[in-house]
Amino acid sequence: MKKLGIVSSLALLLPATGAIADEISLVCSAEPEWCELMVAAFEAENPDTDVLMVRKSTGETLAQVRAEAGNPKIDVWWGGTGDPHLIAAEEGLTESSGVDTSELLGWAQNMAKISEGRAIGIYAGALGIAYNSDILSKKGIEPPQCWADLEDSRFAGEIQVANPNSSGTAYTELATFAQLFGEDDAMIKLASIGKNINTYTKSGSAPSRAAARGETGVSIGFMHDMVNLASQGFPLKIVAPCEGTGYEVGAVSMIKGARNPEGAKQWIEFALRADIQSRAPESGSFQVPSNSNAEVAPESPTLASIKLIDYDFATYGSSETRARLLARWDAEVGDPNPQQ
Ligand code: G6P
Repeated sequence: MKKLGIVSSLALLLPATGAIADEISLVCSAEPEWCELMVAAFEAENPDTDVLMVRKSTGETLAQVRAEAGNPKIDVWWGGTGDPHLIAAEEGLTESSGVDTSELLGWAQNMAKISEGRAIGIYAGALGIAYNSDILSKKGIEPPQCWADLEDSRFAGEIQVANPNSSGTAYTELATFAQLFGEDDAMIKLASIGKNINTYTKSGSAPSRAAARGETGVSIGFMHDMVNLASQGFPLKIVAPCEGTGYEVGAVSMIKGARNPEGAKQWIEFALRADIQSRAPESGSFQVPSNSNAEVAPESPTLASIKLIDYDFATYGSSETRARLLARWDAEVGDPNPQQ
């Protein structure tokens, strides 16, 4: 009996070890459709590997990576705005995979430079405003052209945006306001827009989906998400705000102490390839790809035609700046009904 016990415990141990090496635990902070396409494409090329994927917003993922420091459950974090990836790098929660970045555009290499190779740029996209033209015309509301318009009482209860604590999109908005107007005025403007907000969502793309469906008149989010919805026939109009706007550089990071670092590295190499990045539009993802040889979809907003700020990733992707901005946002703007 005893002997049998040892044999069966060994038998239990062996497949478990093999299983870990053949599994990649991935948190994906891009749109679920793109996450799923990436997983399917990776598994098709690597039939012996299972990618266990969960979609989580960028700020939520940073919180998980912090909570699991020293005993991480995630191997690789793909997608989501770059600032929280840079913060994870600064806090020693991620490590360099050492992959070749020479085919990547300057803004993607810049992210790797700031983080000493820990966060690598995979895509870029600009922040903007969307409105449901049916709703605004039915209600006789003049569409917005500028960030300042969103402070106007004609938009009372009509605007939706995400909460910057959970969402990288909304943190990009907060950091953009700080860079456009200075921190103090940014809080005043966001609080006055806040009077017109009906819901602060967890995820950054939810507000534009709601605007597309007519559940809110106006949303703040990334223009490529809005383009996707407009191209599906929803009556969504996209506005590049007159004052100028910020942008994200989406990133990929390998988690420090990953159980499957080889798998994480393999995923990162895969995700940086031109042929793989060129497939994003199949899932309705219209960011600008970071690989200089990847195809840019005709639907992708042309960043050069938008008045973009010179977004300071080193500053707004630092722990100290994010903690200060979020504390001020909680105190001076705040979400009266935070979602659990
Ligand atoms: C959407 C966009 C991505 C962005 C992400 C951030 O998925 O398509 O470009 O990186 O939102 O998500 P979050 O929920 O953190 O705002």
